[in-house]
Amino acid sequence: MAGIPKEEINRIQSQANIIDVISNYISLEKKGSNYFGVCPFHGDKGPSLSVNETMKFWKCFGCNKSGTVFDFVREIEHVSFPEAVKIVADKIGTKIDGVSNVTYRYTKHLEALDFAMKFYQLNIQSKEGHDAKEYLLKRGLSEEIINEFEIGYAISKPDNLSKILLSKGYDENILLETGLANIGNSLYDLFRDRITFPIHNADGRCVGFSARIYKDIDEAKYINTKETPVFKKGNILFNYHRASKEASNYKYILVVEGQMDAIRIYSSGIKSVVATMGTALTQKHVALLKRLGVDVILAFDNDNAGLKATITNGDILANEDVNVKVLRIKDAKDPDEYILKNGIDSYKAAIEHSVNYFDFKLANLKEDKDLNKIEDLNKYINQVIKELNKSNDPILRELTINDISNKYNIDKQVLLNKLDDIADTKKVYKEVVTLKEKKEKLDNLTKTYRSFIYYLLNDIKYIQLYNQELGYLPDKKYDEIAQEIVAFYLKFNYINMADFVANSYESDFQEELDAIVSDNLGLKLFDNDFIGYIKKIKDIDISSRIKYLKEKMKNETDINEQSKIMDEIIKLKKDGK
Ligand code: UTP
Ligand code: MN
Repeated sequence: MAGIPKEEINRIQSQANIIDVISNYISLEKKGSNYFGVCPFHGDKGPSLSVNETMKFWKCFGCNKSGTVFDFVREIEHVSFPEAVKIVADKIGTKIDGVSNVTYRYTKHLEALDFAMKFYQLNIQSKEGHDAKEYLLKRGLSEEIINEFEIGYAISKPDNLSKILLSKGYDENILLETGLANIGNSLYDLFRDRITFPIHNADGRCVGFSARIYKDIDEAKYINTKETPVFKKGNILFNYHRASKEASNYKYILVVEGQMDAIRIYSSGIKSVVATMGTALTQKHVALLKRLGVDVILAFDNDNAGLKATITNGDILANEDVNVKVLRIKDAKDPDEYILKNGIDSYKAAIEHSVNYFDFKLANLKEDKDLNKIEDLNKYINQVIKELNKSNDPILRELTINDISNKYNIDKQVLLNKLDDIADTKKVYKEVVTLKEKKEKLDNLTKTYRSFIYYLLNDIKYIQLYNQELGYLPDKKYDEIAQEIVAFYLKFNYINMADFVANSYESDFQEELDAIVSDNLGLKLFDNDFIGYIKKIKDIDISSRIKYLKEKMKNETDINEQSKIMDEIIKLKKDGK
């Protein structure tokens, strides 16, 4: 990879306002001297992510991730470090100097996928694509919708796309790594004689395909791109790049199973819709949905699998404090069929009538029971209590308990006794204890070194003091970092933590550096503490040297050598006092 000059990384970082850049992705609110937002990297309930404008750092107190503006962009856009620098440079309207041709990690992959998408689109307009297009038109997708969703056709010739990509200069690895081709005896296209639906990432780049049969043949209905560096099923929701721009106009986002359902709903005028493509929602999906700040309406298929998916995904979302609603349709197998049969207005009415997830769950518990029978009623109430114990909403508990008490004439106190009131407290307590244990485990010495390095990163006076008093660290890992800090200071004549971290991407100590920053961010610096660290490190050094010399002495046979070693031990012991 062509490197971006360190000077350029520093310049872009100093010109970019970290608050402005991060605000492009999540909303931040100022509290005290920091800004806070909901962390997009884990199922955050709080606003747990804090950003410091002057230090040019962010840190999430929930998932403990932290870093510079480049790290944030890298993480959220799933790009390499140089690509992240380029994105930040673009955002602030500057060019990266000194690099005529930065090669970004996945640019070629994305280009190849984009080419494939357009190639397939041409095919569906050709003679060979005639039947595939007829199939779509028969299903009620207009020419316009086919174009808007960039739907295409992969012809049946085994290496049609591969050949043309190779001839355009993409190498075999790109073809294999994008999942566009496979290799057996020779290279062959993954998609053959199928309708192609491109799948985009949140930025609207095509990262993969779902390809459907259109004839009555005995093959898998859809073949999808496998997991690739740019296509991670757990990160991607079909149509998210379009829907995310629309959600706030609708105040909700619909989540459906199939891309055909999403296409039908979208093209009927409800643009706030995404498809899971048949998988359970991951934490990343939840974060993507949560970021929209609207209700999530689960609108899965009208079969048992759809019901199960509703409950699995509903639990996941409700757990992350997302406002979840459920839309169950009747007399049609999925939203696509429903709209074709009953019209979009009827579907809109169904959206209006979608129910709260908790109510849906309770109603669902009643389904297989006759509540006039004591046995069933008892089972039902116990199941409701179990659900309430999972929830941490005290109002919901109160309302539900009152409701059951009235409806079935059961003493409220009896019900309350069954409620696991301390569940939350227990959970929180457990989290605190494990955190504390973790902290204690991080041994004292590591803590000292990490804080010590943190000081070096924040003021040149500590670098100078370190050079005078120590000049090296007895631990190889931390010594390497300290050396690099000194080198940075000598080269640029200043020290800045954000710049140093950005300059150290892909170094051996990247991970340790992240931990140093994350453990200490916000630490107040006192000269006396730093002097204390120096003393402690000197002591460590002396005692490990003494230990080493004592070992050496045991194996030494020459009496003169023994006496030399003894002298050194005595001297060290004196120095240590
Ligand atoms: P469905 O079978 O519900 O899809 O599967 P659908 O949208 O109704 O398909 P049409 O209407 O027959 O065209 C839901 C999703 O599961 C994935 C696809 O992403 C599909 O959209 N799936 C389904 C597969 O990956 N492979 C399959 O063979 C079937
Ligand atoms: Mn369908």
